[in-house]
Amino acid sequence: MALLEVKNLGISFGGLRAVDDFNLKIEQGQLYGLIGPNGAGKTTVFNLLTGVYKPTDGKIYLDGEDITGKSNIEINKSGIARTFQNIRLFSGLTVLDNVKVGLHNQKEYTYSAFTGILRLPAYRRAEREMDERALEILKVFELEKEAEHMASNLPYGKQRKLEIARALATNPKLLLLDEPAAGMNPNETQELMDTISFVRDEFHMTILLIEHDMKLVAGICERLTVLNFGQVLANGDTSEVLKNPEVITAYLGE
Ligand SMILES: Nc1ncnc2c1ncn2[C@@H]1O[C@H](COP(=O)(O)OP(=O)(O)O)[C@@H](O)[C@H]1O
Ligand SMILES: [Mg+2]
Repeated sequence: MALLEVKNLGISFGGLRAVDDFNLKIEQGQLYGLIGPNGAGKTTVFNLLTGVYKPTDGKIYLDGEDITGKSNIEINKSGIARTFQNIRLFSGLTVLDNVKVGLHNQKEYTYSAFTGILRLPAYRRAEREMDERALEILKVFELEKEAEHMASNLPYGKQRKLEIARALATNPKLLLLDEPAAGMNPNETQELMDTISFVRDEFHMTILLIEHDMKLVAGICERLTVLNFGQVLANGDTSEVLKNPEVITAYLGE
């Protein structure tokens, strides 16, 4: 059984068919790329998968569970975490606390409000464990030295990494990354792609990566789906998809 299976997904905005008859199958542990020109419908697919928009057609299954039409919060609990094309962080919190916000969703780190107010040992233990876990995650992204910095004071590239770290802290089954390298210089971008590969290997994470730049995804994704005008233009092994003449034309047409 695929970890994510999407069947005939569609949504219209007024007269615009933003996503039409979209199908996708991702196996556990895959690093899968969703590419396509600007306005193709990539972010809309993420909004549909995460319950931001309700699909007008189709079905979404996560690990066998039908999550079609569920709310954003329910889907998050079911195991999908995402980052945004425009960074969304708690800018008034430290780097460490941003990651701890992610950890708070998990049972193993919860304590009752009563325990928290009285600062009982269970509270202190949970807090200590969360600090340790959050630091472990920050290390993966080479952000542990900035743990006590305010998120808003990080340079742009590091804010992008922190957003991924926070999403990862919710321990998702599936991680959705929407153009994580947007606005980065080539060196930062290459480093980020290496980190994403590392996250997949180290956490056996299943990742769906939206990227505008074909060359970037080709370097790390084993499978690709290409969207164009809301429809799947091609999908399959990366090397085959990139040879597809229709895909080449869609990109040249930009
Ligand atoms: N909430 C919305 N209302 C109306 N149109 C939308 C909405 N969200 C996206 N669209 C339109 O859907 C199309 C796909 O947008 P989007 O998914 O953001 O593309 P991509 O992420 O591939 O660049 C665009 O034409 C966009 O203007
Ligand atoms: Mg987009």
